[in-house]
Amino acid sequence: RGKKAFIAGVADDQGFGWAIAKCLAEAGAEISLGVWVPALNIFETSFNRGKFDESRRLSNGKLMEFANIYPMDAVFDTLDDVPQDVRENKRYAGNEGWTVSECAAKARGVAKDVGKIDILVHSLANGPEVQKPLLETSRRGYLAALSASSYSYVSMVQRFGPLMNPGGAAISLTYVAADRVIPGYGGGMSSAKAALESDTRVLAYEAGRKYQVRVNAISAGPLGSRAAKAIGFIDDMIRYSYENAPIQKELAATEVGSVATFLCSPLASAVTGQVVYVDNGLSVMGLAG
Ligand code: NAI
Repeated sequence: RGKKAFIAGVADDQGFGWAIAKCLAEAGAEISLGVWVPALNIFETSFNRGKFDESRRLSNGKLMEFANIYPMDAVFDTLDDVPQDVRENKRYAGNEGWTVSECAAKARGVAKDVGKIDILVHSLANGPEVQKPLLETSRRGYLAALSASSYSYVSMVQRFGPLMNPGGAAISLTYVAADRVIPGYGGGMSSAKAALESDTRVLAYEAGRKYQVRVNAISAGPLGSRAAKAIGFIDDMIRYSYENAPIQKELAATEVGSVATFLCSPLASAVTGQVVYVDNGLSVMGLAG
């Protein structure tokens, strides 16, 4: 039986979410996506116009298909949480059922028909003040970073956990800024990643006991995704890594995709609560090499 995966945080073919989808599809999984509501329209238009066809090509020659594409905003758990201005925003108004609980309810409907979820992927983050040093970050900006980048994972495991098969696995993407200082990664994003990593351990315990689901995180090296470009210093980070990491090459998103696939597979059936670095080894260096 093919495994079913739900991946939140894909809106183009450049980021880690897409690469994870591709590797899971190569391994025979059926993929459904949760796409951020404001990005959904452009994603679907580009998809339908064939803009991603080249990146959709699998090694068997077929194009990767998505079983379901759900609109999603991981900052809201239920419709009651959504403020009026967001409800009326024209990018949201045309879609419905995009809070985490409603998304899970849709997936539950699908689960009844075609089976439960085996793999849950959280590949999203957002920090409106990421360009500000922590020392200048507002309470609002800090809490927004935690809400979008950390609690969103708790919410997903909470709502999707009951829809998962025992033996299933959840994974999220984190960054070394959680435990070392990365100047420029501001706005509380370093705090958000620290929370995400701590939550990975606690969720591993709780979801392990409750659902027999494993929970891990991948700490990835720098990649020039859309989100990373918005931070502003990604090219410097890629160069720094190239110059100083034990393995001197640029990180490919598929290298994260393949480790995610391993962690979500039975090969990793005893691995849970871990943060696995997929960064060409940069994180083990104490001084620039
Ligand atoms: P990306 O731009 O491909 O992915 C971020 C996704 O988050 C986008 O699809 C965006 O639409 C979605 N998103 C933002 N706010 C959302 C919300 N409220 N609800 C639902 N979706 C939302 O960029 P990337 O870099 O692949 O990011 C994926 C993960 O990898 C993030 O957690 C990021 O922090 C992490 N990461 C990235 C690194 C990099 O250098 N690019 C390094 C280490 C970790």
